[in-house]
Amino acid sequence: MKSRMKYIDVTEPGPPENLKVAEGPVPEIGSEEVLLRVHATALNRADTYQRQGQYPPPEGASEILGLEAAGTIEAVGSAVSSWERGAEVMALLSGGGYAEYVAVDAGLLMPKPEGLSFAEAAAIPEVFLTAYQALYWLASLEEAQHVLIHAGASGVGTAATQLVTQAGAVPHVTASAGKHTLCLQLGAETAIDYEKEDFSERIRQVTNDRGADIIVDFVGASYAEKNSRALALDGTWVVLALMGGATVEQFPLGRLFRKRGTIVTSTLRSRSISYKRALVQDFIDTHLQFFDDGRLAPVIDNIMNFSDVQAAHERMEANKNAGKIVLTLQ
Ligand SMILES: NC(=O)c1ccc[n+]([C@@H]2O[C@H](COP(=O)([O-])OP(=O)(O)OC[C@H]3O[C@@H](n4cnc5c(N)ncnc54)[C@H](OP(=O)(O)O)[C@@H]3O)[C@@H](O)[C@H]2O)c1
Repeated sequence: MKSRMKYIDVTEPGPPENLKVAEGPVPEIGSEEVLLRVHATALNRADTYQRQGQYPPPEGASEILGLEAAGTIEAVGSAVSSWERGAEVMALLSGGGYAEYVAVDAGLLMPKPEGLSFAEAAAIPEVFLTAYQALYWLASLEEAQHVLIHAGASGVGTAATQLVTQAGAVPHVTASAGKHTLCLQLGAETAIDYEKEDFSERIRQVTNDRGADIIVDFVGASYAEKNSRALALDGTWVVLALMGGATVEQFPLGRLFRKRGTIVTSTLRSRSISYKRALVQDFIDTHLQFFDDGRLAPVIDNIMNFSDVQAAHERMEANKNAGKIVLTLQ
């Protein structure tokens, strides 16, 4: 086995130009880990924040960027009995995906769906598990509910729309106008151009004034007032990111209170290994099979070469992607 590998280095916190292909040691694995030979990894918005020095990896995680990957198992730790060398898998990572090899906890692996390429599989773990956690673990999604998904064409948004559709519930999304066709194809009943329309008014209109039972929010402060209007009685508003700011000057607590609304926040990356293992297992048990019959599918914006990582980050930061940007290594 090789002792050195290529990886993407952040030479210093800053713009995409600071991403460089570098060489370093292949990671050592612990007894409960496997060594994954990475065929493909995918970008997540968090990678751009980490590159800028704004989102350090949790303690113990690899300093290398990359929250998900697909590839083949090269070696297994002494306590791992559930996986064998050569298995084709996809993995949820706390870091390390932008590399030829990554050490992964064996409980955070999922078998690669047979009909999918490694590039397609690499686009699944982080966004589908984030969306699944938000909808089912944090918000108890039920059939026939109305779900408002912001950034509907983001990686997480495209996964959430499909999961809501699968559940027999009704997804409504906000997205910039050029991305609406994709959102509607994925099952969104309503696509709202948030630059031109007040999404809270439109949601009340299309739900006969009921509002959204669940809001999946990546925007935060700039949407808080409208989210409080869009929320249904007993609704749950799940905050997963703060792309539109963190401080709400006048928080509409009274409106939330009158609706018996719940606000819940979460970051998946910093969760404990045991939490993530349970989430992965739950997703395998309940949803993984849907990638075999096409009821769920990764939404790919672009497949690029590992060495084109700078252009990949630029594309994401310019909000040009609809779905996932994948980097291939093999
Ligand atoms: N909490 C967690 O556990 C967790 C896990 C994974 C991801 N996330 C978060 O989920 C979000 C989506 O991640 P991703 O990797 O799927 O993102 P992505 O593919 O980069 O998509 C993000 C999209 O959000 C829209 N957007 C950007 N800034 C906005 C703003 N200020 N107001 C409204 N819309 C804005 C843009 O689409 P339009 O062109 O439609 O505006 C952009 O393309 C990110 O914020 C990420 O940090 C959270």
